[in-house]
Amino acid sequence: MSVAICPGSFDPITLGHMDIITRASQCFDTLYVCVMVNCDKSKHMFSEEKRLDLIRKSVAHLPNVTVEAWSGLLADYARKKGANVIVKGVRNVTDFDQEMQMARINGGILPGLETVLLPASAPYEHFSSTMVREMIRYNQPLEQYVPAPVAKELSNI
Ligand code: PNS
Repeated sequence: MSVAICPGSFDPITLGHMDIITRASQCFDTLYVCVMVNCDKSKHMFSEEKRLDLIRKSVAHLPNVTVEAWSGLLADYARKKGANVIVKGVRNVTDFDQEMQMARINGGILPGLETVLLPASAPYEHFSSTMVREMIRYNQPLEQYVPAPVAKELSNI
């Protein structure tokens, strides 16, 4: 059985994340979407609980996807889950550089742990959680950037 992990900060989940999660869920038997700590992003707009809740509502229609949080190393989470693939989306060369570094680090910690990079689908190439947080701060409509359950919930804050 193939088991993969789609890790990230998801602050909050965007349609770009959904594009990658949906496509990854079609490639593997089981996909864990894991909310993790990115040391370069110390301040979050949404709590871990809230991010988990928003992702769970967004992926409820994908039966082979499980959503969890992990505060340790990604490689340790992969070991615990028996996963040998990490899936990340890449939008541009900056993402690619960062993901290459992380792929080498993760493969170094846990040999055999592979990273599969999926190119972002064209409509979502410019999407980011940072952009969505800006839209929230300035009370802009969110429907075109985040999954419907997230847009509904965040329009009430
Ligand atoms: O959505 P992001 O912020 O690009 O995701 C980055 C994330 C959270 C996947 C990365 O920072 C991570 O793997 N953090 C867990 C700690 C870890 O394993 N670090 C070593 C690999 S760089």
